[in-house]
Amino acid sequence: MKIVTLEKFVEKSLEFSTLNLINECFSENRPCLGDESELAMRVIAMDHENVISHAAMYIRSMRIDDYTFKGSIIGDVVVSRNYRGRGLCKIMLDVLNSFNFELKIEHSFLFAYEPKIYLSCGYRNLTNEIKFFDSNCNEWKKFVYKGGLHKQIGNSKLPDGVIDFCGKVY
Ligand SMILES: CC(C)(COP(=O)(O)OP(=O)(O)OC[C@H]1O[C@@H](n2cnc3c(N)ncnc32)[C@H](O)[C@@H]1OP(=O)(O)O)[C@@H](O)C(=O)NCCC(=O)NCCS
Repeated sequence: MKIVTLEKFVEKSLEFSTLNLINECFSENRPCLGDESELAMRVIAMDHENVISHAAMYIRSMRIDDYTFKGSIIGDVVVSRNYRGRGLCKIMLDVLNSFNFELKIEHSFLFAYEPKIYLSCGYRNLTNEIKFFDSNCNEWKKFVYKGGLHKQIGNSKLPDGVIDFCGKVY
């Protein structure tokens, strides 16, 4: 088994296998990978030629009132059924976390179905209200996202207040 980081897919077959894995793992249909222009890094695990897990990190500038910061969002975290419970999710998150430091991200976010999974990676419940663009309905939304998680990377504490994600969440 090997862990690979990618800034973009060069091989179409790898992209196709990753997309298949994501669609297989999520009950709703996700026709495409996230926005390439915001993608900082993907991490995948491979067993021989098969893609068995994937996670991606997207970055952009975000703000709370007049505090502007560089934030990351971790998305499309999946591990193939037969490989679950072996720590692969945690390994991928640890790899992406090293890019949080390298890219001088101040705050990292994750929107989870099962928040408990990410506690050992240092993510904690996000209680701030968030404003984000819902690309399914094509409209801006504002609410406290149940399952929202936050991890402080830089020195500044995340202030209270509405986090303007200045785009969509993953
Ligand atoms: C969620 C998922 C990525 C976890 O992958 P995994 O490789 O099995 O997870 P790991 O083995 O690295 O476990 C990480 C931590 O989560 C815990 N965990 C794993 N599955 C869990 C579950 N279903 N419920 C609660 N905790 C769980 C592990 O005990 C571990 O905690 P620890 O580090 O304190 O020991 C995988 O189950 C999956 O692909 N599910 C379907 C898609 C999905 O829901 N993706 C997440 C979207 S937010």
